[in-house]
Amino acid sequence: MDGGEELAGVWQARVITLFPEAFPGVLGLSLTGKALQEGRWQLHTHNLRDHGIGKHRNVDDTPAGGGAGMVMRADVVGPALEAAQSFARGRWPVIYLSPRGRPFDQAMARDLAKCDGVTLLCGRFEGVDQRVLDHFNVTEVSIGDYVLTGGEIAAQTLLDATIRLLPGVLGNAESTVDESHSSGLLEHPQFTRPVEWEGRMIPDVLMSGHHGEIQKWRQGQSESLTRARRPDLWELRSKAQD
Ligand code: ADE
Repeated sequence: MDGGEELAGVWQARVITLFPEAFPGVLGLSLTGKALQEGRWQLHTHNLRDHGIGKHRNVDDTPAGGGAGMVMRADVVGPALEAAQSFARGRWPVIYLSPRGRPFDQAMARDLAKCDGVTLLCGRFEGVDQRVLDHFNVTEVSIGDYVLTGGEIAAQTLLDATIRLLPGVLGNAESTVDESHSSGLLEHPQFTRPVEWEGRMIPDVLMSGHHGEIQKWRQGQSESLTRARRPDLWELRSKAQD
């Protein structure tokens, strides 16, 4: 999908990229894909190349002051953002996916799901001219402390985490209440049939039918997993409970 054909009231993602063919990608499958088909959210891509300069439609140039790599030009990214933002309505942040950004988390996904849409700028090369980020009041967001070759996978990550929180996307069977990060704790381990596999049994308590005991066991597992694997989350939780 490209450009216009918007439906009033539907949560929209506008993605600015040099690789529009990368979308919807994995978002076209499973629950997010079904929700896209059902019109619960909309996806529009804007091809940066359409705003490129000259015969070769250049989108980048060498960094001012010297140094390695190439920088995406303000006079290319600017018009692309202008075009995407002409469709924006209500609460609609502009996000540039960048390893330099604020770390993405579940709270940000929840907040984005409450907006009317989002514009995502996917970079390639060494980055984007700072003036365009300042001009459009762009928020930089990172999906983790590692460097990807471009923002497209990061944009899909952010969109997946957000879209599954939109009304009607998950069925009752896929509640978000107990999952990791919803309560500041990691999720407890899960088991299903067969009861014995490779000599390993499902923990007795889960087979006991005793709901209170099962809840207690799961809570204990969540707490010890979080303490062991994510002391940062555990610390935050302890502080919040003080
Ligand atoms: N682009 C390149 N690396 C990234 C990261 N870690 N997060 C978001 N966007 C990126």
